[in-house]
This record gives sequence, C-alpha cells and structure tokens, in this order.
Amino acid sequence: MNKLLRTFKRCAAAGAVILAAISLQPLSSAQAAPQPVVGGTRAAQGEFPWMVRLSMGCGGALYTQQIVLTAAHCVSGSGNNTSITATAGVVDLQSASAIKVKSTKVLQAPGYNGKGKDWALIKLARPINLPTLPIATTTAYNSGTFTVAGWGAAREGGSQQRYLLKAQVPFVSDASCQQSYGNDLVPGEEICAGYAQGGVDTCQGDSGGPMFRKDNAGAWIQVGIVSWGEGCARPGYPGVYTEVSTFAAAIKSAAATL
Ligand code: ARG
Repeated sequence: MNKLLRTFKRCAAAGAVILAAISLQPLSSAQAAPQPVVGGTRAAQGEFPWMVRLSMGCGGALYTQQIVLTAAHCVSGSGNNTSITATAGVVDLQSASAIKVKSTKVLQAPGYNGKGKDWALIKLARPINLPTLPIATTTAYNSGTFTVAGWGAAREGGSQQRYLLKAQVPFVSDASCQQSYGNDLVPGEEICAGYAQGGVDTCQGDSGGPMFRKDNAGAWIQVGIVSWGEGCARPGYPGVYTEVSTFAAAIKSAAATL
C-alpha cells in the first residue's frame, strides 16, 4: 500500500468524514458526557478561542486572524478555493453565534505526498476578530503534556461531535513511536503523543486541529497538527502529529504569500 493510501486508511477518506458530519448528535442532559476526541471532556466556551472547524470535516487553528493552519491531507491541493467554510468562535457548531467565513485560497505544504509534511494553510475571505495560536519555532516545547481538541469522533468509528472536546496526552519519543510505526514515522517531521495503555487520543475528524501546550510565559503555543494513527486510542499506538517547529519557517514564508 502506498503512503497516501495508508494516510487515507488511517485518517478516513474526507467523504466519510463529511457524511459523518451531517449526523452531528446533540447531547441531551440524560446522556453521559461524550468521550471527546476519545477519552476527553467538553471544552468551555472561549477556552480555545482560536479553534476552527472546517467544512470538509477537519479541525484547524487561527495562525493569523485570516489564515487557518490545518493538515495537508485535509485539502486536495493549492490554489484559489472558495469551497471551504470555517466555523469559529463557538464550542457548539450549531450555535447561532457561530462565526462562519469562506475560504479564498488553499496552500498545501510544498512536496506533500502523504508521508510527513502534513500541513496546509487556508486563507479566509475576511479576518476573524479572535485570538490566534502562535506556533512553536524551536524544539523547546516538543516534550511534556499536550492538549488536543476537536469535533472529531469520540471513539474509533464514531460520529462527529457537535461540541468541542479536549484531552491531554503525554509526549512519546521518536524511538518509542518507531516501535509502534516503524518506517511509516518520519521522526524529523512528526511528533507522537499518547498513553502506552491507550484510551485518550485524537480521532477521525480531528485532523488538522492543533496539539498545544503552555510556553515558559504561560501562553498557549502550538507544537503539533493532528495527522494520523492506527485506529484511535489503541494501546501501543500513539497519535502522530505534524512537528510544527520543523515547519515553522516554511509556514511563515508560505503565509506571507497568501
Ligand atoms: N487522519 C485523521 C483525520 O483525518 C486523524 C487521525 C488521528 N488518529 C489518531 N489516532 N490520533 O481526522
């Protein structure tokens, strides 16, 4: 199987994500709180103000007020593109106060072929007046405990979520992650996170969303982009994230062209 197919297998085809997105399940008070993002909890309104839901069934983060950073596998190429709607400013995707803005352009990572380099930028039709999420420009924060968030499946094979869910996952070393994924992992371009025993992870539909932590000044900083994994939250299979620090300079120069 080639790497692109493998990424699709591990991320679910965009079409499947869109179909799942149509059946967003509201929560009734009688239901147990969902296991977000697999093994998480509900995010509070305004807790992660730069979180964005993209209409193809992916997540993203406001890199600037008019540019969303997401995953390359969430888009189909580069160029003018008015087909994507970004929803921001709400944890509830069905909220009347949701801010919805169309895309104007997409920039997929140069050289993206399904293995590594899983980042893309989406230019919005207008700026959104919300805080942005700075990206890590050095490897200094590629360790510790990370937060992940998204509207993706709360369990493997599960439906997309109406409410933003969050979870915490510990850093996993390249050496350990290679024990799970062998040569499918691109250690210089990917960073892994999860528990050896599984149970907490991002999942289908969380792709493109940020993995982040606090910096030394106590501010949120993005260290990863949800990319892929073998199933979701399985023991011995951590989540794999684009290593943002590796691409920080490329992302900055690409954004300047949009
Ligand atoms: N590629 C998937 C998507 O499109 C994300 C998979 C993340 N998987 C994981 N086990 N962390 O949503």
